[in-house]
Amino acid sequence: MEISNSYRELDARYYMPAFSREIMLTRGLGSKVWDADGNEYIDCVAGIAVCSTGHCHPRVVRAICDQARELIHCSNLYYVPHQGELAKVLVEITGMHKAFFSNSGAEAMEGAIKLARIATGRKDFVAFTHGFHGRTMGSLAVTHKPAIREPFMPLEPRCTFVEYGDLDGLCRSVNDQTAAVVVEPIQGEAGVIIPGDDFLKGVRECCDSHGALMIVDEVQTGMGRTGKWLAIQHTNVRPDLVTLAKGIASGFPMGALVAREGLEFKTSQHGSTFAGGPLACAAALATIEVIREVLPGVAAKGERFRKGLSAHSPRARGLMIGVPVGERCPGVQKECAKNGVLVNCAADGNLRLVPPLVISPEEIDQAVGVINGALG
Ligand SMILES: Cc1ncc(COP(=O)(O)O)c(C=O)c1O
Repeated sequence: MEISNSYRELDARYYMPAFSREIMLTRGLGSKVWDADGNEYIDCVAGIAVCSTGHCHPRVVRAICDQARELIHCSNLYYVPHQGELAKVLVEITGMHKAFFSNSGAEAMEGAIKLARIATGRKDFVAFTHGFHGRTMGSLAVTHKPAIREPFMPLEPRCTFVEYGDLDGLCRSVNDQTAAVVVEPIQGEAGVIIPGDDFLKGVRECCDSHGALMIVDEVQTGMGRTGKWLAIQHTNVRPDLVTLAKGIASGFPMGALVAREGLEFKTSQHGSTFAGGPLACAAALATIEVIREVLPGVAAKGERFRKGLSAHSPRARGLMIGVPVGERCPGVQKECAKNGVLVNCAADGNLRLVPPLVISPEEIDQAVGVINGALG
């Protein structure tokens, strides 16, 4: 209690937090975390879909420590250890052609926006209601939520928003000024909204008929979260650009933009001092090795959650699960934490579960029991 209170005071006086917080986590291992008071939780938040290999996976820790002893940073003026190796692996698992690295999901989206503009010579974008793509100025411009975008208007690039799932509306909005359509294959921040079967195929067709690019934001859905490396791989749709981050390096800050053949930056068109540094690349390579091993089990684990929570109409694809809870959501989140399970409220009263992909069946059953108890 004392540690948390002293931190709370420091925080209140010196820090500008993005969100209000109650719990201070100090340790994690696998799917469990512990707070400053020693309370244990099963973590169904996983740093918001980030810690897919669980907390402090020994192979990820070893890869980071080994690399830290060799070279922590060298900038992008030199070849970076592990960078080419990681780009190759990302290209292989995504079926794309080349990779570009960033430090976050928003920055990956900035890269996608810049590349779409430079490749098409067009300026405008189309995105979807309730979509979330980041909080930097460019990524915010294609993010819908009025409460977070409107205070920062005017934003660039110009973006038209279409109801998520409305293909007719999309086709009316895309035109020969549209550089790209930006779409999440499942909307995460919106509360795990899974579109109809033909939606993404329809987006592709609409883009094709106007020469616009299709940018698929897999920052939250990618890297195995839904049971495949990318959520778009549940369809036959081939995007032009894919953004990745969150689960890519087990919590080491990293993002990536992967592009199909024919789309790439020319030297010095885009870059970042830290992006794709040696530590991030080492962490990502180790992360991908672990995910490769657990990926075949993700669908069954998601199904176990879905069945366990079936009384509450969950929406699930792999280990990305939304439960419509309504206004009770913050109370349910609190009650779960009190009983040792961390869950998170996404938009519109949707409880979001995005646990580590390594979570065990026993941990799932325990978490489901607590969540059902809190839902009553
Ligand atoms: C779909 C999607 N895109 C982009 C982002 C932004 O990523 P970051 O917070 O790493 O900038 C997020 C973050 O929640 C996201 O869910």
